[in-house]
Amino acid sequence: MPLTHTTELFQKALAGKYALGAFNVNNMELLQAIVDACEEEKAPVMLQISKGARNYANPIYLKKLIEAAVSTTTIPIAVHLDHGDSFELCKQCIDEGFTSVMIDGSHLPYDENVAVCKEVVEYAHKHNCVVEGELGMLVGAQFDEGEEGGGHCDSGVYTNPEEAVDFVKQTGVDSLAVAIGNSHGAYKFKGEQHLDLDRLKAIKKALQDAGLGDYPLVLHGASSVPAHLVKEINQYGGDLGEDTAGVPESDIEIARRVGCTKVNIDTDLRLAMTAAIRKTFAENPKEFDPRKVLGPARDYVKELVKHKIKNVLCCAGQA
Ligand code: G3H
Ligand code: 13P
Ligand code: ZN
Repeated sequence: MPLTHTTELFQKALAGKYALGAFNVNNMELLQAIVDACEEEKAPVMLQISKGARNYANPIYLKKLIEAAVSTTTIPIAVHLDHGDSFELCKQCIDEGFTSVMIDGSHLPYDENVAVCKEVVEYAHKHNCVVEGELGMLVGAQFDEGEEGGGHCDSGVYTNPEEAVDFVKQTGVDSLAVAIGNSHGAYKFKGEQHLDLDRLKAIKKALQDAGLGDYPLVLHGASSVPAHLVKEINQYGGDLGEDTAGVPESDIEIARRVGCTKVNIDTDLRLAMTAAIRKTFAENPKEFDPRKVLGPARDYVKELVKHKIKNVLCCAGQA
């Protein structure tokens, strides 16, 4: 089965009122965990690749791994560039056959964000690729680079509904990532915090009222940083701050119902993988076969992805 176009996945998700999991892929074990979980749950999926993943794994390796996943499964799979930071990177991915790209100009002044998005949209639409833009700035880490984050933004800039309408109209982007209290990485919040779901509703309504229809919104930073995973990591020798918290899964469920069609999850997969690796080494200090370490880690990530698909995104059975 070939790749499925992102547009087709979006249309079905919007009609069915479920969310697509957009899970980050960096290596074979993560990819297998994600697609095996989706295959077993019959869920469509977006595999997303960041610039960092391309630098780590080599774009050709990632492309071939995804080709292998597509040819050994029956589920619809789309491939998306996560946080593209330039026209050139987006163009490369479009030329490589990605079904969608994100151009992240959220840190730029408004006019510059509009300009770079327009440039990407113009090229992408000529090449049958769809584009995600971002308006507003997430609180905390713009990218996950440890406790202080990379490009830390203390207050964040929440997405303004009227500006969102203007942005979508001016740029022609096909989906919009919003800032509503979401944040990247494992150090999102200290203590429980919630998304600004009223703002999300207002953004969705403003787009609808402006004639843009049931417009797909994207939730970045949607990891929940499960306390049990942080505990397990620390129990087996890790040192993560235990007072850290993510976005409550109940908020993500509401965001899905309000209209977040694509939900980005990376950190929770990293935590599951790390917890399992640490556990294996702690319990089997003589182990040195990577398969005995990465195998259980893959299983643990798969379990987590199945949970998200069934209980949070509600896309099980939609493939
Ligand atoms: O939001 C960023 C994603 O978690 C990707 O992270 O840039 O470290 O690959 P990365
Ligand atoms: P998390 O760090 O919450 O997993 O967010 C991932 C993300 O937004 C990828 O674009
Ligand atoms: Zn993100």
